[in-house]
Amino acid sequence: MKLNADSMAERFTGLFDDPAEPLVVRSPGRVNLIGEHTDYNEGFVLPAAIDKAAWVAVTRRTDNRILLFAEDYHARYDTALTTLTPTDIHWPNYILGVADQLQKSGITIGGFTLLLAGDIPIGAGLSSSAAVECATLFALNELFELHLSKAEMAHIAQKAEHDFAGVKCGVMDMFTSLFGKKDQVINLDCRSLFYEYLPLDLKGYKLLLLDTNLNHRLSSSAYNTRRQQCEQGVAWVRENLPAVAALRDITGDMLEKFVKDRDPLIYQRCRYVVEENHRLLQACRDLRNGDIRSLGKKMFETHEGLSKQYEVSCPELDFLVEAVKGNEDVVGARMMGGGFGGCTINIVKEEAIEKLVDSLRPAYEIATGLPLTDYVVSVENGTELMKKREPVHA
Ligand code: GLA
Repeated sequence: MKLNADSMAERFTGLFDDPAEPLVVRSPGRVNLIGEHTDYNEGFVLPAAIDKAAWVAVTRRTDNRILLFAEDYHARYDTALTTLTPTDIHWPNYILGVADQLQKSGITIGGFTLLLAGDIPIGAGLSSSAAVECATLFALNELFELHLSKAEMAHIAQKAEHDFAGVKCGVMDMFTSLFGKKDQVINLDCRSLFYEYLPLDLKGYKLLLLDTNLNHRLSSSAYNTRRQQCEQGVAWVRENLPAVAALRDITGDMLEKFVKDRDPLIYQRCRYVVEENHRLLQACRDLRNGDIRSLGKKMFETHEGLSKQYEVSCPELDFLVEAVKGNEDVVGARMMGGGFGGCTINIVKEEAIEKLVDSLRPAYEIATGLPLTDYVVSVENGTELMKKREPVHA
């Protein structure tokens, strides 16, 4: 199915017995240049929205039912606003979680009918779930005239993910989906939500994603464990320095003093985060100076940290990063997102991409037994209303 406002509206009308024209919203997936596993530690990230998105077409209902259809699965789901609970089928959870969170915040909404479609590969670490949550929330905000700000929406969507998907994620994915801007990366402070856009001028280079095809969905328990380990490290420092609230406030020296001897593993996890925050601030300087080589070098360092210190990589991701190291057409590469699968992000000279992928594909398949998928992504706008609600004519 083509993804545009008209095709979404047409498909919606064909599926549901509803005389109203739906409103249509698109909300993109994201990449992150650097700053991984820093968001839930109240640190910094450098993400951007991409040209792959979740789309929803939605109308209001007069009853309190929620009627859903997922184009990709050809599946319907029907429930009521009064009985929202997570389901074993994954896809409705991102929509129901948002409706649930609105109600928990004391916001009144009514029933709705929703068609979901999109082209973000699922399980590839491009935040397809955040995109669905943000598309749904933005649409419900319009439909029921809730007057929520985008920052409020980012927090509501994040809580939806915590409660209905069970991942104690940070705010990066939702914020990026909502706030993305064409050809700009977002330098976001995940504590205050202060942000600035930095132009992404890659000068003949492109962002190439290499998908391990290892679905990372099963990684949520490891993700939540990392989060707990960081919180434990902070608690130990705080026993001595009560002003400290998150790893964001902690230096390498504090970790040496208060964490290292208590638990070397927790020390190692925390150390990675402290170093990564530092790397990100330098990477922003590289970007401002147009020094892509220096930025790329930091991406390799981040991968090393994620693989050896934070231990959220896997042999497939390590293979793909190792395979491009030393290639003069690739300035930087690293695993991206939560880890244990998904994609690597690479900055590659445009004219070298085809040759690179052609040579990597057979090598990757032999080494891992998995196919390799590649996406060249562009940086695009965040959540947008693609078609307004039209009144029903008698
Ligand atoms: C996942 C989470 C994000 C972030 C990254 C790691 O994508 O959803 O909040 O923590 O992992 O940086």
